[in-house]
Amino acid sequence: MAILAICGGMRPDSNTNKLVRTAAAASGCDLQTVELATVTIKPCTGCMHCMMNEGRCAIDDDMQPLYQQLLEADGVIIGSPTYYMDVSGAVKCLIDRSLALYYRGIGPIAYPDKPFLGQRPLAEKPVVLATTVAGAGHEKAMAMLRFCMHECHKMTIAGEIAEAVGMDDVDDMPAVLERAEAAGKALAGAVRARGASS
Ligand SMILES: Cc1cc2nc3c(=O)[nH]c(=O)nc-3n(C[C@H](O)[C@H](O)[C@H](O)COP(=O)(O)O)c2cc1C
Repeated sequence: MAILAICGGMRPDSNTNKLVRTAAAASGCDLQTVELATVTIKPCTGCMHCMMNEGRCAIDDDMQPLYQQLLEADGVIIGSPTYYMDVSGAVKCLIDRSLALYYRGIGPIAYPDKPFLGQRPLAEKPVVLATTVAGAGHEKAMAMLRFCMHECHKMTIAGEIAEAVGMDDVDDMPAVLERAEAAGKALAGAVRARGASS
């Protein structure tokens, strides 16, 4: 069982990343970790090259290996800091670019009456969503993560971590870390259950 952990925080001490790593470690699964602070994922240009070219994105950057990692992972954890009550720009770039996966020719057809909306290769793959915020807006950021990963990619949500942490460090917040651990364990359970039923 292999989990892809996407750390969307750009700060070295990112609380979001700490919760992603905590959940990932608690899953007990093999891990691949992507730190958005150390890679280049440019914005989607909307060229739709992917739609016309079997899901191949025309932008040659660090998103290219991530497509394969997303396809191969048994489960995913994605974390974004809450910025202006939404996901961060860096995480949104990744999500926008993930649209190319719709055109790989893999997975269930999303809407049979709208073939241009492609397929969903990540369908039913378990995912944990995570965000931290200083004060308010984490529910809205979480709603966006839920919309992108569940409503659009059709992934199965195994857990949600949405925490208001002020200016504190989650390392000093045992209850928050416990919730992240619980989400990681739930992810492992969902991955195991899916493997058992497939
Ligand atoms: C660009 C930007 C926008 C932010 N927007 C909000 C916001 O809408 N609401 C809020 O309470 N905190 C906001 N914050 C604070 C962050 O949500 C908070 O510090 C968060 O925990 C940062 O995550 P990180 O520790 O993973 O970097 C913002 C911070 C930045 C840098």
